[in-house]
Amino acid sequence: MIRTPILTIRNLTAVFPNDNGGLHALDAITFDVRPREFVCVLGPSGSGKTTLLRILAGLIKPTSGSFTFGHGEQPSIGMVFQGSNLMPWRTVIENIKLPLEIRSVPEQTAIAQAHEMIELVGLQGFEDALPHDLSGGMAQRVAIARALIHDPDLLLLDEPFASLDAMTRERMWTELSRIWQMRQKTVIMVTHSINESLFLADRVLVLTQRPGRIKMDMEVDIPRPRKDDIRYTLHFGKLARQLRGAIM
Ligand SMILES: Nc1ncnc2c1ncn2[C@@H]1O[C@H](COP(=O)(O)OP(=O)(O)O)[C@@H](O)[C@H]1O
Ligand SMILES: [Mg+2]
Repeated sequence: MIRTPILTIRNLTAVFPNDNGGLHALDAITFDVRPREFVCVLGPSGSGKTTLLRILAGLIKPTSGSFTFGHGEQPSIGMVFQGSNLMPWRTVIENIKLPLEIRSVPEQTAIAQAHEMIELVGLQGFEDALPHDLSGGMAQRVAIARALIHDPDLLLLDEPFASLDAMTRERMWTELSRIWQMRQKTVIMVTHSINESLFLADRVLVLTQRPGRIKMDMEVDIPRPRKDDIRYTLHFGKLARQLRGAIM
């Protein structure tokens, strides 16, 4: 089935001004994202991955090139940054309902929706905890709940699990897959981990060293649901090797 892209990115280039003719972060980035697609972006440090997400979120302007959304207007976006970025003085539920407060959603509605999100990410019982009382994995769940609460069209995730230990990380992959399937979101996720991208993505883009260009655009044809033991299959190994070869 051919689906009209939800996002069309053409020749995006990002150059940050400096005293040395400009720092070229991204170069001629072109790709499409289909509705409900899960795209992972892999690449070395400094290849412009965060810059790409920040451009798509409208936080910075590209130097040249364009990106357009399927229905022509800026979609609603949920973003999870590197590190959970929670407000330390707000409780779990207060952090999660923040995007609704910003949109002036009535308090009772906001609280009800926040409870729904708390259930979705499995944080029942921690509604009134403060961020410093949470484990890394729990804080990331709060950040994901906060990014989803206003039902965004597009979810942008910047290495959301980078700071977690291996076991928690793998549990979060299962959680995120479940949430993605339930909520039918389009996701672009930056990661450093080949395994993570093969567990989660429909497609993996690999960027080159700076300036980031698309070096590989790989379909991940591994059936879902993907269980922990898929990594021991020959096919998983083959895809992992291809990605490893492309990342320098
Ligand atoms: N606001 C900025 N001003 C100047 N240089 C920046 C800015 N943001 C990022 N850079 C530079 O652009 C390059 C790409 O950064 P980034 O997008 O954070 O890479 P990645 O997320 O892949 O590690 C890096 O060399 C970084 O130092
Ligand atoms: Mg980054």
